Amino acid sequence: MRDSTLPKHLAIIMDGNGRWVARQGQPRGLGHRAGRKALRKVVEHCAQINLPELTIFAFSSENWQRPVTEVKLLLDLFKRALRKEANELHKNNICITFIGERSRFSVSLQQEMLRVEELTQNNQRLQLNVAINYGGRWDIVQASRKLASAVAAGELRAEDIDEQRFSRALSSAGYSMPDLLIRSGGEQRLSNFLLWQLAYSEIYFTDTLWPDFNANEIDIALAEYSRRQRRFGRTPLQAARSTYSV
Ligand code: IPE
Ligand code: IPE
Ligand code: MG
Repeated sequence: MRDSTLPKHLAIIMDGNGRWVARQGQPRGLGHRAGRKALRKVVEHCAQINLPELTIFAFSSENWQRPVTEVKLLLDLFKRALRKEANELHKNNICITFIGERSRFSVSLQQEMLRVEELTQNNQRLQLNVAINYGGRWDIVQASRKLASAVAAGELRAEDIDEQRFSRALSSAGYSMPDLLIRSGGEQRLSNFLLWQLAYSEIYFTDTLWPDFNANEIDIALAEYSRRQRRFGRTPLQAARSTYSV
């Protein structure tokens, strides 16, 4: 068995906010507020246990299909979180980056996102990547376009496009591949999250709804991860003898 180490990169699909409040007959917005509190606890915990990288799915490219009022509330919550919490995260030496299509956001929100990225860019304790208006298919398409333009401009030969170069064209260039994906809320699907990047991640699904997430839930998932053997196509015996990873 693989020795019980922490993942270097944890990715989370934070799902279940709406169902969490529906049980209490409350409007969905309250669930998203509770979700934000859970996220604060989870980020703190990840920093405390020295996890190097955390990527969270905050808003998908498909989430625009929700009622306008809910979309507005989610984006308002995001804006407020940026203003209120970025300084605190900066003090805690956390580096924040965003992935996703930004052009659909207001100019002021885009500027705020840039400000936070610049403010925190040299922080070393935890790299927190926030996927917002993100879709895995969008990411693959935008990477392909970038590479195709470079080929058309004569800056790149088509035969030089390999997996590494493709990875570097993705919006997650510079990130490592997630070792572990956690999805809360009971659904067992990727919902168009990091399609390329999750190719060899361990996946942990839990019924716990996101607002109920906390340090203990993370520790349970990490304990499960430590019991997994990552084989990357090899036999169990080969895998036990080496530390190869993708
Ligand atoms: C996750 O919770 C938050 C976002 C998708 C932004 P949901 O809002 O999807 O909650 P459920 O799945 O309806 O319970
Ligand atoms: C995935 O959750 C997106 C985020 C957590 C931001 P959804 O609730 O949107 O996923 P589906 O639609 O149920 O697959
Ligand atoms: Mg959901």
